[in-house]
Amino acid sequence: KYLFGVIGYPAKHSKSPWIHTNFLEEAQLEGLYRAIEVKPDDLSEAIKGFKALEMDGFNVTVPFKEAILPYLDEIDSYAAKIGAVNTVALENGKWKGYNTDGKGFVRSLREAYPSFDFPAGKALVIGAGGAAKGIYHALLEEEMVQVDVTNRTTEKAMKIIGNHAHEGQTHVLSLQEAEEKISDYDVIVQTTSVGMVPNTKDQVLSLAGVSSHAIVCDIVYKPFHTSFLLEAEQRGANVLHGHGMLLYQAALAFEIWTGKRVEATQLLKEFEQQVK
Ligand code: ATR
Repeated sequence: KYLFGVIGYPAKHSKSPWIHTNFLEEAQLEGLYRAIEVKPDDLSEAIKGFKALEMDGFNVTVPFKEAILPYLDEIDSYAAKIGAVNTVALENGKWKGYNTDGKGFVRSLREAYPSFDFPAGKALVIGAGGAAKGIYHALLEEEMVQVDVTNRTTEKAMKIIGNHAHEGQTHVLSLQEAEEKISDYDVIVQTTSVGMVPNTKDQVLSLAGVSSHAIVCDIVYKPFHTSFLLEAEQRGANVLHGHGMLLYQAALAFEIWTGKRVEATQLLKEFEQQVK
C-alpha cells in the first residue's frame, strides 16, 4: 500500500488528497494520500517522521518549496535550476526532490491544445515569482524559439532568467513594452496573483492587439474566469484556465512515485465544475 501526502502551512484546504485519491483509483493502486499541516518550525521533525513511516513520497507546498532543499539526499537537475521542490520521492531509501509545477503547466496546455507546435512558438511569461520561474524553464525545455518575461519590477525578471538573455532566446520587457509587442506572442501566461480577488477588474496588462491564434493562460483558477481571460476571449484569442496546471502537476508527481501514467480527463472536467 502506498503512503503519500502533502506538507504545507496551511494545508487543510488542499485539493491534492482528492486529486491523488482519484489517481490511485484510476491506476488501480491501493494507497493513502493525506494533507499534513506542518508549522514552519516543525519541518525538520516532520521529515524525520516521514522517514520513520517510510512514506513513498510527498508533495511540498507553501511555504516549504525552498525550505525543503537541505533535507533532501538528491535533487533532479530541473528542480535544482529552479531552486524549489514540489515533489519528493523515496528512491532506494533516499529522498529525491523534483519540481512538476512548470511541466504541469506545459502538460495542461498540451492536453487542451494538442496540435500546438511548441518549438515554433513565441511565449510571454508575465510575473517573476516562483510559479513564473518554473513555467519559464519548462517552456525553455520545449525549445520554443522565444520565451520572454515581463514583470512590474524588471530586476526580478532578470533574476529568474539567469543567463538566458544572452542567448537571444529571452528578452526581459517592461509591462508597457510587453503590451506594445503583445501581437508577437503565441502563448501568453499570466502567473501573478493579480486577478485572484473575486470580481476584480485588475489586470497586470491589457491584451489589446493580441493575435487570434494566441493561447492566453492564467494560472489563477479562483475565480475561474479572471478578468484577463475574459479580455482574451472578447478579443477572439484561445484561453487556458489555471485549474489544469494544478491537476497535471499532481499527475506528474503521481507518475514519478508509481510509474503509472494517469489521463485525468474526467477528473479535469469534475475539477472545472467544482471551481467554476
Ligand atoms: P509566487 O507565488 O509565484 O512565488 P510571488 O513571489 O508572490 O509569486 O510574486 C508575485 C508576482 O506578482 C510578482 O511578479 C509581482 O511583481 P513584482 O515582482 O513587481 O512585485 C507580481 N505582482 C503582484 N502584485 C502586482 C500588481 N498589483 N501589479 C503587477 N504585478 C504584481
